[in-house]
Amino acid sequence: MINLDEQKKTDQKTSSKSKSTTKTSATKKTTSPKTKEEKTVLRPPVEQLYGDELVFLESIDKFAKPKNWYISPHLLRIFILGSSSKDKLSKKIETKFYGNPTLVERAIVTLASDRGLLLIGEPGTGKSWLAELLAAGISKRSTLVVQGTAATTEDQIKYSWNIAAVIAKGQSTDTMIPSPIMTAMENGLIGRFEELTRCTSDVQDSLISILSEKYIAIPELSDENVIYAQEGFNVIATANSRDKGVNELSSALKRRFNFVTIPIVTDQKTEKEIIEFRIQDLMERKGLAKKIPASLLEILLETFKELRDVSLSSRSESDRLESSLSTAEQISILEDALLQNTFFKDVGPEKALAQSLIGGLTRRLPEDLTVMNKFWHAVIEKNKAKSEQWKKYYSEGQKTMKSFH
Ligand SMILES: Nc1ncnc2c1ncn2[C@@H]1O[C@H](COP(=O)(O)OP(=O)(O)OP(=O)(O)O)[C@@H](O)[C@H]1O
Ligand SMILES: [Mg+2]
Repeated sequence: MINLDEQKKTDQKTSSKSKSTTKTSATKKTTSPKTKEEKTVLRPPVEQLYGDELVFLESIDKFAKPKNWYISPHLLRIFILGSSSKDKLSKKIETKFYGNPTLVERAIVTLASDRGLLLIGEPGTGKSWLAELLAAGISKRSTLVVQGTAATTEDQIKYSWNIAAVIAKGQSTDTMIPSPIMTAMENGLIGRFEELTRCTSDVQDSLISILSEKYIAIPELSDENVIYAQEGFNVIATANSRDKGVNELSSALKRRFNFVTIPIVTDQKTEKEIIEFRIQDLMERKGLAKKIPASLLEILLETFKELRDVSLSSRSESDRLESSLSTAEQISILEDALLQNTFFKDVGPEKALAQSLIGGLTRRLPEDLTVMNKFWHAVIEKNKAKSEQWKKYYSEGQKTMKSFH
């Protein structure tokens, strides 16, 4: 066993070392002599994307905060939900997550406690996005992620070995490969576990000791054989309510998490804001025009509202589309439509939207196509009289569905 004080010192050293490495690599990125094209990251992590906001918030932070948190819970809430005039900040903080503030507060408070945070919800409700925002605000590092799949092993949660190095030098901390969760523990950061319920139960259960004892033992080593979690460490896990149920988590593991359920946004105003925010960001990153034709957005929102109503009132699974009809689904449909309309000018916006909507939502053939056909005749046909755009949308949708046969 190693001496705790010694361990603390080494951890502090590694912690500051790892933080400065992060900083240097970030600086390297901005000062690298490479051309802009060469170093454009497809999707930078939140701490880079909103790095200026985080630095600003840290510079004005005078609020109570848990040890080793980059910004305080008070400012983290503003970082996630956006600032308003009553916050009296000299810099506007953009809204990044649209949802109930109480839900965000509960998530933040959980992370300051001894329990882990489990975000549950339908696909595309923003669970991973919220997890990333929380980790970026607390640790300035949101990339310590384990992606849960049926093939995830205990090694990927704890540690593994660099076999070639072990053969050459033997087992030691130098030849060990820590998992992202172990790195988070050592440095007092937030570790993320995506899609927890997709892992087998023995793998899930290896989290129990991490969350309760807050250390990982390495029995292969004779000294330095325990890695202790430093202040600031916690885990954010996500679980999709459509996958294997959250109920299947063992009760021991359930007890170590606070559950926060993220609902599907159904309020049209909020949904419109989310879609505009995401699409503008996506288009900007692709170097394309950011403007979304208002009529197109209105048609998309209305179609989804009606589709959800039909889905709620239908009695059997076969009368419903397989899709979760989430906001994220609308974002990808609109993104496809805008790209098609930008690259192929001869495809009008209504045609592009009808094609990407029908293409995107009819996954289970022929069931989904039957549901969509019925919906188009019963609901979209009624809207034909509203405007020229609805009329085109209706007829292009019909043509698209015919092409499926
Ligand atoms: N409430 C919301 N606020 C802001 N953005 C949102 C919201 N809901 C969804 N989004 C956007 O939708 C996209 C998809 O969300 P995300 O990947 O986080 O969903 P998820 O719940 O993790 O889905 P899955 O269960 O399929 O993994 C994100 O890019 C996010 O920006
Ligand atoms: Mg996700």
